[in-house]
Amino acid sequence: MNPPIPTPRGPLSSALLAHLVDGEPLGVPSLRGLDPLTDDDLHLALWCCYELHHHGFAGVADDAEWDIDVLRFRRVLESVFEGALRAEHQPRAVPSDPLVALRVIATWAGPPLASTIAERGEREHLQELALHRSAYQLKEADPHTWAIPRLRGPGRAAMIEIQADEYGHGVPGEGHAELFAEAMEQLGLSSRFGDSIDRLPGTTLATDNLVTMFGLNRRLRGALVGHLALFEMVSVSPMSKYLTAARRVGGLRALERFYEVHVEVDAHHAEVALGGMVAGIVADEPELADDVIFGAAALHRVEARFARHVLRSWDDGRSSLRPSLEAGLGVATDALASHGRGDAAVSLVSEAATGATRAPAAAPAEPPLSATG
Ligand SMILES: [Fe+2]
Ligand SMILES: [Fe+2]
Repeated sequence: MNPPIPTPRGPLSSALLAHLVDGEPLGVPSLRGLDPLTDDDLHLALWCCYELHHHGFAGVADDAEWDIDVLRFRRVLESVFEGALRAEHQPRAVPSDPLVALRVIATWAGPPLASTIAERGEREHLQELALHRSAYQLKEADPHTWAIPRLRGPGRAAMIEIQADEYGHGVPGEGHAELFAEAMEQLGLSSRFGDSIDRLPGTTLATDNLVTMFGLNRRLRGALVGHLALFEMVSVSPMSKYLTAARRVGGLRALERFYEVHVEVDAHHAEVALGGMVAGIVADEPELADDVIFGAAALHRVEARFARHVLRSWDDGRSSLRPSLEAGLGVATDALASHGRGDAAVSLVSEAATGATRAPAAAPAEPPLSATG
């Protein structure tokens, strides 16, 4: 069954969904005053445009993905998103050789979300994190696969090797997205794709929109390669920390398995990604080198913003999710509604988040990723 239509949360998503569902006219949107990196409404609207190319929506015609008004609307949104990402990118701050640059970016520190959860996270924090990551992990690997028909040679072969692992070599139930779905069910959450979208803020949707934007635009294939490479290069450390939390909380064997698989396989994927995929693709198309670096740096920054949002929310004693709309979401809203106001949520992150926000340079050298390839 196709995912349900999300609830509009502003003029952009309202206009888009009214067009998709009721055939209302869709014009060129005004984005004045919006933060293109985090705005809730902008990123939901962009996410809906993108998902027409993946799972579609219940009640929306499949050919809406090629609706010229939707494509024009989407182009405006993704242009400002990409523009803002490029504006914060500082190419001269990293080496020009993508193999060296990616090793440098992999050492960049971010807000210590994984360490915090490893040390003090409870079941509710793992639930909340799973809901955030569900927009991507329930379709893990799919956006990167868009690159395969657009690349050639040994670099493409290396990407296929990685992707074959991500899809569990075609064994039903073994794909990483399927392992994640099983883990969500064990956490008491709906694993149906799209069920939790109304809970996800723009900061979270931006992490998913980033990879889909890179995947759907052929001209951004270099950035998509850089994104996948960094995903693989920095996965093992945070995934092992989330595994620590899952083991400590207990009763979450499926979640443990999801993290275990990534701890085991991503050390190898990191080597294949850098030495095989990036090296091969840049040798074949040297002009992609700058965008390989841009894709990796952009991934670091959107993930750092996401991790900072989660830690700050918990430090303020509230959930990092949007408020529940109650009916029909199929998620453990009760558990999450009570979480965030309780003492546990506050004490969980107070030291770590304060350290990260007051003095970022002093934060532990931890990749900020909580999603993984
Ligand atoms: Fe994976
Ligand atoms: Fe991987």
